[in-house]
Amino acid sequence: MKIEKIARKNILNIASYVPGKSIEEVQKEYGPKRWVKLASNENVLGPSPKAIRAIQKELSKIHFYPEGPCSLLRQAIAQQFSLPEERIVISNGADNLILMIGCAFVNEGDEVIMADPTFTVYTNVTQIMGGKVIPIRLKEFTHDLRGMLERVTRKTKLIFICNPNNPTGTTVNRKIFEDFLSALPERVIVILDEAYGEFVEDSSSPRGLDYIGKKQLILLRTFSKVYGLAGLRIGYALGREDLIHCLYQVRDPFPVHRLAQVAAVAALQDKRHAEKTIRMVSEGRRFLYQELKRIGLAYVPSQANFIFIDFHRDSEEVFRALLSEGIIIRPGKTWGFPTFARVTIGTLEENRRFIRALDKIYRR
Ligand SMILES: Cc1ncc(COP(=O)(O)O)c(C=O)c1O
Repeated sequence: MKIEKIARKNILNIASYVPGKSIEEVQKEYGPKRWVKLASNENVLGPSPKAIRAIQKELSKIHFYPEGPCSLLRQAIAQQFSLPEERIVISNGADNLILMIGCAFVNEGDEVIMADPTFTVYTNVTQIMGGKVIPIRLKEFTHDLRGMLERVTRKTKLIFICNPNNPTGTTVNRKIFEDFLSALPERVIVILDEAYGEFVEDSSSPRGLDYIGKKQLILLRTFSKVYGLAGLRIGYALGREDLIHCLYQVRDPFPVHRLAQVAAVAALQDKRHAEKTIRMVSEGRRFLYQELKRIGLAYVPSQANFIFIDFHRDSEEVFRALLSEGIIIRPGKTWGFPTFARVTIGTLEENRRFIRALDKIYRR
């Protein structure tokens, strides 16, 4: 029997997600080095020390199942954002929440509008569910909200807005976003992905929290970026009670393990670590802009902890040259920008190493 006859329709044609290369992976090819990983937009300062202590305290309890709904974390989020707990659902990463959104809302044949390029998991989930991806090309590296609106049909179910957008780091304008929300039919749900929301400095960008409960909107957040817990896999979604209830209907019973739950509570409360991270990203951005200009490279001004840089040559070449210098970045071919790469903003020392390596490459 052919596997095509057994597998669920659509899943065999889905392009697999290509993550940034891990240190373990490049080490196999290039040997041990003092690697600098600027490929996956993690928190380069590491986790909050308070999160580490919370994990250590919890370790002896891992023979018990975790608490299914993540009540303590849900209470902490509710308190921090002054929201009722019914508007909060927690799961093992924003990735998993995107899959839950697909399971809860996308029927076969439904249309799902998203930017091109944007975070690729939106496409994968839509295809798993048998939905149709409607890609809308970015305009000047930014979501074209008017273009998205024009493509809404009776079949449109979801619209993903990644703000700031991965991989370009751009944000939408609040006024344009609000006009867009008002013009949408109520049956269309907007998924506002703020995985990098904490890094936004531009005050004209909308804040997802302002729309919770008022609009047909689900806000996605993660502990993988500013909170430094990418390896633990934990994120949350906020929205109107009826929308969040649908996500609970498709949720695993115990999606978030004990260590992730206690670490996230500690990380959320460790404001100093989050602020230090945001400051480092902001200073790093300015340093990199200045150095990239000096080298003569163009970049997209970013509101996130990464920069989309135009290397003016095949970025795979630059990627390989940087690997020999011990630096991992993410080339832009997968997003249809073969001369660009997405580079995470590192610590000052990491940023300097990256710039020294670029100086070497561009002097050749
Ligand atoms: C825009 C965006 N959304 C969601 C995610 C997934 O986050 P998580 O690590 O919580 O699954 C990422 C991860 O890189 C991302 O860039």
